[in-house]
Amino acid sequence: MLNTIKSSIGVVGLAVMGANIARNFASKEYKTSVYNRTFARTQELVNEFPDHLDGFEELKDFVESLELPRKIIVMVKSGQPVDELIIELLKYVDQDDIIIDCGNSYWKDTQRRQEQLKHKVHFIGCGVSGGSLGALHGPSIMPGGEKHVVDQLLPYLRHVVAKDFLLNPCVSNIGEGAAGHFVKMVHNGIEYALMQSIAEIYNILRSNKYSNEHMRIVFSKLNQGNLQSYLLDITEDILESKIENGDYLLDLVLDKAESKGTGGWTVISAIELGVSIPSLSSALFARYANSQDHITTMIHPIYENLSSQDNLDSTIDEFSKILELNFFASYIQGFELIQKASDEYSWKVDIHEVLRVWEGGCIIRSQMISTLQSYIKLNKTLQIDFLTKYAQYIPKIRHFISQTRVSMATTNASLDYILTFLAPRLPTNLIQAQRDYFGEHTYVRIDSGDTVTGGWNKSKG
Ligand code: 6PG
Repeated sequence: MLNTIKSSIGVVGLAVMGANIARNFASKEYKTSVYNRTFARTQELVNEFPDHLDGFEELKDFVESLELPRKIIVMVKSGQPVDELIIELLKYVDQDDIIIDCGNSYWKDTQRRQEQLKHKVHFIGCGVSGGSLGALHGPSIMPGGEKHVVDQLLPYLRHVVAKDFLLNPCVSNIGEGAAGHFVKMVHNGIEYALMQSIAEIYNILRSNKYSNEHMRIVFSKLNQGNLQSYLLDITEDILESKIENGDYLLDLVLDKAESKGTGGWTVISAIELGVSIPSLSSALFARYANSQDHITTMIHPIYENLSSQDNLDSTIDEFSKILELNFFASYIQGFELIQKASDEYSWKVDIHEVLRVWEGGCIIRSQMISTLQSYIKLNKTLQIDFLTKYAQYIPKIRHFISQTRVSMATTNASLDYILTFLAPRLPTNLIQAQRDYFGEHTYVRIDSGDTVTGGWNKSKG
């Protein structure tokens, strides 16, 4: 038994992510205590790393096995299970101990827990990205909460994360309060948009009867420069995966994409904060649309007829422009949302650090992050020059889209976003005028700066 020496860290919840985080710590030679509701799972895992993992059947013994202040990583299903576990842990932990919720918890739950646990235990909301393999070999980690507490964790976390472009660890003190979980939530919102924009290219290719192998070649050509990314890497792998009889596995997958919550919370948060994230929200709604089985069945024959008339004269270059524009618009919308939340809730998030942490390990890592690092350093005028370059793609992309008959929800949203961003004036003056006309909701006069009402020729009532 290893019980005489205290463990550096503890992991509760040994499903795939928790088990892999524990394996990751153990393989970096950290003595790690592990606990799972079913002890058999704990025993199995401990057998893999008997020298560095110490398993417990009782939560009390698990907690007591940790060196002070205790650092307890919680990797259980978000929502109620986290609250239930906290109640149990509170029986055994001290005020200086640290509970680190590494699941995909809703940031408002994190905010509430931090408030409720004040003076009882430190509570850190920590985003972890990279899927199960990332958790094992090096995820991107986004902890948020009291600065002095996060600072105590960083020396441990630095050893288990991926590396950024300069080979520094992909972990950082993301900000105060629920900033860690908020940033991870937005990461997932962006993830939805990048995935949808790749799926839209796939849809064009498929509707034009490209073989899976031909599609894989197209995606491998797109997976270069700014677009070189984890999501395009996995798309290539997926496109070439076959079953025993030689059929492509992807063709056997039901066209129904699910979602666990983070994409929806991103949209809800954007609504609450009044931030426009059309690429991210379109990607969420595209997933919901997929799950409306009756509509899919009804439309399918019409869709087939239309798609067979498609005339694909696009080049890889055009696809590349579509994807670049989508990637760019999606990341920028995510930053706007993070910045607004950080200002609103005084979280002190540094977007450069967020980007750096996303350079390695996470699902949305891509070469475009380095372009974005330069973009966000620019002043407003230079940013507009930068965006104008992207805007030059738009007529060609619009022309291309007009020839295809497949739905391009996120591409259309990204185009509109860039155009809106660059518009010298928006048509919202008319909307505000209409509001004032029928409801006396007032408007701001740009000549005087005054907020006024009326002045309309009300001949239509
Ligand atoms: C990650 C992923 C991970 C998970 C998503 C899936 O960063 O490692 O985002 O957290 O795969 O939560 O989300 P949906 O089930 O909502 O698609």
